[in-house]
Amino acid sequence: MLQGKRILLGVSGSIAAYKTPLLVRLLVNAGAEVQVILSESAKDFVTPLTLSTVSNRPVFSAFVKNDTGEWANHVELGLWADLVLIAPTSANTLAKLAHGLCDNLLMATCLSARCAVAISPAMDLDMYAHKATQTNFEKLEKLGYKIIPAANGELASGMSGIGRMPEPDELFTYIQKHFEADAPLSGKKALVTAGPTYEAIDPVRFIGNYSSGKMGIAVAESLARKGAEVTLIHGPIAGIPIPKHIKTIAVTSSNEMLDACLKHWPESNIAVMAAAVADYRPVAVSTEKIKKTAAEMNIALIKSTDILAEMGKCKKPGQMLVGFALETENELENARKKLEKKNLDLVVLNSLRDTGAGFGYDTNRVTLLAHNTTEETALKPKTEIADDIVEKIIQLLA
Ligand code: CTP
Repeated sequence: MLQGKRILLGVSGSIAAYKTPLLVRLLVNAGAEVQVILSESAKDFVTPLTLSTVSNRPVFSAFVKNDTGEWANHVELGLWADLVLIAPTSANTLAKLAHGLCDNLLMATCLSARCAVAISPAMDLDMYAHKATQTNFEKLEKLGYKIIPAANGELASGMSGIGRMPEPDELFTYIQKHFEADAPLSGKKALVTAGPTYEAIDPVRFIGNYSSGKMGIAVAESLARKGAEVTLIHGPIAGIPIPKHIKTIAVTSSNEMLDACLKHWPESNIAVMAAAVADYRPVAVSTEKIKKTAAEMNIALIKSTDILAEMGKCKKPGQMLVGFALETENELENARKKLEKKNLDLVVLNSLRDTGAGFGYDTNRVTLLAHNTTEETALKPKTEIADDIVEKIIQLLA
């Protein structure tokens, strides 16, 4: 359930902060990505080094990273997260949240977050019971924050009562339950293709294209975050880390991609075909390196099998097939024809009109064409376009 989930853990100044490395370890072992933000006073209770070691990421604290002048982008951090959890939440941080204060990186990130923000208060029993704190809880609930009630037991002051942060395993269970409620694709198998294909000419040369694979990988990650079991069939792509929980099958040529897709399609509920498959391949592959003796040379090409169309032909009721299209004229009309002809449920039409969209860029603008709807997205990061595509798939499956 937590595979690939992005959890932003805010740690504020309370003795319970010493337990947070255990929580991070549980989350990371369950496949989640954890980004920690420490408040200044939290550093008295737990070190950034401990938390960066267990989370495998740098820990952020201030708006500017050390002496680098580089900005810790709270907007990006807020948008990155699938869940923000502040554990422990001190009385001071609680009060700041209730009033929308923004005087440190953690507060600014909470205001930028679009996902759920959960808080796990930890303080002495009288602070917890104080009217000001209880009023802050009421405000926070109204603002949509999720409050994890403090536990009853031994407190740092030596007294006993309500104010303890729940143990790491209890917080872990809370997070699991939170995501169970937000996994509409749980139990579904998804197949995604990404990247280019290389069609061999001879042992050292090939016909290929510039596809980076970024769009397909982003779709695979987004499907996994919504609970799907994802198999990514990709052509030669380099330098893009693929999360461990996504099963990968590396292929080189269009024929290899075709075989892998036809093998996995019957058992899949969803397929999103984002690969830039070479449309033509050499008729014959020379077994020896071709010498540059002739002044001119021609390579005879033959059309590659349209993998998407083949999958459309054997699509069963209930299976969802999504293709991409890149058109330069009569875009919507041609894309809609593709939807019908290839027996698709959704076409993602790439725009060539925008700088910053498509091949090699990290951003894209697309139009999502289903049988009864046409929706254009803004120009935005491919990860967000991927989320839009997956939201549309979920909508169409409902
Ligand atoms: N595709 C495929 N196998 C191929 C070629 C394309 O599976 N041999 C898939 C791509 O992954 C993508 C869609 O088909 O989802 C892209 O189609 P596109 O290349 O835009 O259009 P074509 O169908 O090739 O038609 P045209 O030549 O008119 O562009």
